[in-house]
Amino acid sequence: MKKVRVGVLVSGRGSNLQAIIDNIEKGMLSAEIAVVISDQADAYALERARTHHLPAVHVSAKGYRNRRDAYDTLLLRELQKYGVELICLAGFMRIITPTLIKAYPNRILNIHPALLPSFPGLHVQKAALEHGVKFSGCTVHFVDEGMDTGPIIIQAVVAVLDKDTEESLSQRILLQEHKIYSRAIQLYAEGRLSLDGKRVLVSGGRVESVDFLMNP
Ligand code: GRF
Repeated sequence: MKKVRVGVLVSGRGSNLQAIIDNIEKGMLSAEIAVVISDQADAYALERARTHHLPAVHVSAKGYRNRRDAYDTLLLRELQKYGVELICLAGFMRIITPTLIKAYPNRILNIHPALLPSFPGLHVQKAALEHGVKFSGCTVHFVDEGMDTGPIIIQAVVAVLDKDTEESLSQRILLQEHKIYSRAIQLYAEGRLSLDGKRVLVSGGRVESVDFLMNP
């Protein structure tokens, strides 16, 4: 199967990036990482990319604070230079603009550490705890022009325990993030995802989210 060329956008530690790299190296994904791009020069994710001999590019956001479109034009240039077919946001702390979304329609994925549409935005594990939900989890979704509002591809559920802190809950969710992001990329690579309005339909049998709930 032809490998999908993935561009991963990061801002920080890059544990999701690492999980994707590891799964590619194990031969579990029909994908290759064409480039890793960060808006932060010192993002540890860039270090991870270099360790695996992957192109690691810093696109500075300095001077672009209120010029998000102009910044996305810079990103677009880099992504196209590396022949990126699918963009994966993995802890990228900037809002993507229509400039990028129009260039990559339904070809941008994001991972979010909550069960969307509950708890969009930032600090969501803390918000979930404070709200007292009994289950949380993570979501991989297509990126649209809203904040964490795009069509949901796959979710994993984790229990919230009485003794949980923000850290312990985040960690339990993160373990699932590392599984479902690769799973979503593979579904995309296999051409199994289609859209029916906001619903993402997965062809070829198994109901992926249910599978994760039953076999975490
Ligand atoms: C993850 O929790 C992800 O869901 C969120 O940002 C965090 C990034 O973590 N969007 P890492 O950089 O992949 O370790």
